[in-house]
Amino acid sequence: MFDSKIYSERRLKLRKKIRSGIILIHGNNESPMNYPANPYHFRQDSSFLYFFGLNLPGLVGVIDIEDGRDCIYGNNVDIDDIIWMGPQPTINELASKVGVLSTHPLKDLVTTLHRAVKQGRKIHFTPPYRAENILSLEQLLGIHPTLIQKYSSVELVKTIVSLRSIKEPCEITEIDSACDIGYKMHTTAMKMAMVGEKELNIAGTIAGIANCWGSGPSFPIILSQNGETLHNHDHSQILKEGRLLLCDAGAEAISNYASDFTRTIPVGGKFSQKQKDIYNVVLAANNKAIELAKPGIPYLNIHLEAARIITSGLVQLGLMKGDINDAVTNGAHALFMPHGLGHMMGLDVHDMEDLGENNVGYDDEISRSDQFGTAYLRLGRKLQEGFVITVEPGIYFIPALIEKWKSEKINSSFINFDKLADYIGFGGIRLEDDILITAKGCRLLGSKRIPITIEEVEKTFAG
Ligand code: GLY
Ligand code: MN
Ligand code: MN
Repeated sequence: MFDSKIYSERRLKLRKKIRSGIILIHGNNESPMNYPANPYHFRQDSSFLYFFGLNLPGLVGVIDIEDGRDCIYGNNVDIDDIIWMGPQPTINELASKVGVLSTHPLKDLVTTLHRAVKQGRKIHFTPPYRAENILSLEQLLGIHPTLIQKYSSVELVKTIVSLRSIKEPCEITEIDSACDIGYKMHTTAMKMAMVGEKELNIAGTIAGIANCWGSGPSFPIILSQNGETLHNHDHSQILKEGRLLLCDAGAEAISNYASDFTRTIPVGGKFSQKQKDIYNVVLAANNKAIELAKPGIPYLNIHLEAARIITSGLVQLGLMKGDINDAVTNGAHALFMPHGLGHMMGLDVHDMEDLGENNVGYDDEISRSDQFGTAYLRLGRKLQEGFVITVEPGIYFIPALIEKWKSEKINSSFINFDKLADYIGFGGIRLEDDILITAKGCRLLGSKRIPITIEEVEKTFAG
């Protein structure tokens, strides 16, 4: 947790931007796995963490614009709780750590809000993504669950996005430390990528590293020799000579700030020439994107430049053909990279995605493309100093997609489909780094870049 002043200042900024009404920042509750007393790992709502800092279930933050007070609603533990949980601070003690002087039992919230609704006051809340919070809002505000999303506050969402998008120095320190955990995870995976090793063992080991050094993985680990499946959570295979292992994993620091990296490792530690050729195209796209990233440039433009590097590399290898700009304009590269170049990162690995991808990644100036591939780009708007984003180009050989494009002759003037037969079973390569946009450019997050060149990856495996 940061100093209480940080939270007070953030709430003050929110107050200054929201004209009137009551802001409700609903914390999360425990979520049961298979019976109520056996919950999933608790994860607090990220906007609650941002404004109210407390990483505990059962709390709701209220910011009343007109009466000028910030309150936390929550219940003190009783003797039964103490028997099972040990002594706990009171809600008052907790609230004072985040600069909040006023607290109430949770049961009072419904009275406060019902009164405010009767007075015709605007209640601002963010779109809930958990069923329990939808039901809680129904009870608190009298809105039918099917209408809750519709009544969420666009003004609040946009204001939170504007604040959380620009990372403060204390947040960057936390993200750097999450990236350092990511470094340990990925270098460990590289060293373990031996023929005969189980994917499950590597995935479990690096999840353990995230648990040992922080709050655990920042999202379910993607680790597979079938790296062409973009979000592959199946770890059931044994590593085989000649294959590539794609590992996309990151950690949450204790403070819940995330990291998110991808590396692709040759099983057995040595890339074949065919693998090197594709790998170096992806690496060139990653490096180019990092070179270009600076305030004022739309991330959409960097995505398209990465697409051009990928297209140009694939033309040189004989897998694509024709004019590079035309190919990218027509979206032909998306056969190989059917996803976006990256996203915001912070308290969420896809930062603020609960507030709506377009609210976070697009604005009045730059709207989302509807072209296959680029439509998946989560962040298209102009970069600003203080943004933390990922850079994650990739090349994948997805049999079903290749088959579809071939049979439907999609972009056939740009693709050498005959040559692609040799790449079925190749898998996929993604290389993902995390960067901070600085005044004049950007810097890689974390103390050291995770080994990424062919030589560095092979040396890490061997070492
Ligand atoms: N965790 C998937 C991604 O890299 O965005
Ligand atoms: Mn990732
Ligand atoms: Mn990512």
